Amino acid sequence: MNLLVTGGAGFIGSNFIRFMLNKYPDYKIINFDKLTYAGNLENLISVEQNPHYHFVNGDICDKQLVNDTIRNYSIDVIVNFAAESHVDRSISESDIFIKTNVLGTQVLLDATRDNSLKKYVQISTDEVYGSLGETGHFTEETPLEPNSPYSASKASGDLLVRAYHETFGMNMNITRCSNNYGPYHFPEKLIPLIITNALEGKALPVYGDGMNVRDWLHVMDHASAIDLVIHNGKPGEVYNIGGHNERKNIEIVNIILDLIGISTELIRYVEDRKGHDRRYAIDPTKITRELNWQPVYIFETGIKETVQWYLDNQSWWQRIKNGDYTSYYESQYRER
Ligand code: NAD
Ligand code: DAU
Repeated sequence: MNLLVTGGAGFIGSNFIRFMLNKYPDYKIINFDKLTYAGNLENLISVEQNPHYHFVNGDICDKQLVNDTIRNYSIDVIVNFAAESHVDRSISESDIFIKTNVLGTQVLLDATRDNSLKKYVQISTDEVYGSLGETGHFTEETPLEPNSPYSASKASGDLLVRAYHETFGMNMNITRCSNNYGPYHFPEKLIPLIITNALEGKALPVYGDGMNVRDWLHVMDHASAIDLVIHNGKPGEVYNIGGHNERKNIEIVNIILDLIGISTELIRYVEDRKGHDRRYAIDPTKITRELNWQPVYIFETGIKETVQWYLDNQSWWQRIKNGDYTSYYESQYRER
């Protein structure tokens, strides 16, 4: 199989590419990535010499390049990870979220149709469902009620995928996963931000009261679920992905501090995120029942390994934190 993986230089895409090359040594993987601030080819150093791996530097909004790449590499399936992914950035400036997450998706869908590809898989998010109260879970039937410009742009992409399936009868799936954690996670997101700030002795910003809940899944468990969806997902179906691992943000911060072995004195409660979703929780019954997916990581082990990864790979995150990211970080946290 020849797979076009868009956004493969980011956090989840790069872990997915490694997972697939390892599991399917005969598959050809083409990583198509614009290399935005979040894209980093260092994430893929371990596979760059693999003759089955190829990189194309491109924007999913570029119709010509998308179509040329599909033809040059005889692509069978597109898996679309490419996105602007950070909620806080979408609150500050949403234009690029609409361009990439909506218009980029439309370009990929047209290319899937025009080149008669076997399948298109849209990597979406549980955030399209909005926020939960203290009880309940998101199922695939939960109405879409996105609350941030990021989640609205992802929901718009999902609606286009649905519409192309209905209109053109194309073979598509949408996956909606909960929060991922693991190696190569960009240090603007909660878990890597807390780990790296703690290692640097910097303040640890906790939004609002720290009681918002996220449902954390190891990135490799996400990769194994996407693999099953690519191979066995039924045409037109949505699959929620999550491992029943709800944690309050402050609990996450305390677990990390315990693992690193430092006190809580660096914690700072800062101004809340605007429109901050209170709780996410995924019901993964459908993917478990229909595709026989099971997560293998236990959170306590996964987070320990993740903290260790950041300890062992300080030059990876220090290069990011000392680069352009510095001005973003300062503007975000100066305002709070
Ligand atoms: P990320 O920000 O780490 O990576 C995004 C990648 O997409 C980067 O490599 C970037 O260069 C690339 N990209 C951005 N715009 C592009 C464009 N116009 N053309 C080509 N490439 C472009 O994001 P991530 O956390 O790895 O998330 C990947 C996908 O998974 C996203 O679609 C996101 O919505 C979804 N998702 C993320 C999570 C999570 O917890 N991180 C959970 C569920 C779903
Ligand atoms: O649920 C899936 C989503 O998870 C993905 O679709 C997004 O791409 C991904 O970024 C992630 O979104 P969140 O907003 O949940 O992740 P983030 O790491 O930004 O924040 C996690 C929680 O921690 C959230 O409640 C906000 C809070 N937070 C975040 C940061 C960056 C803090 O308290 N302090 C912080 O400095």
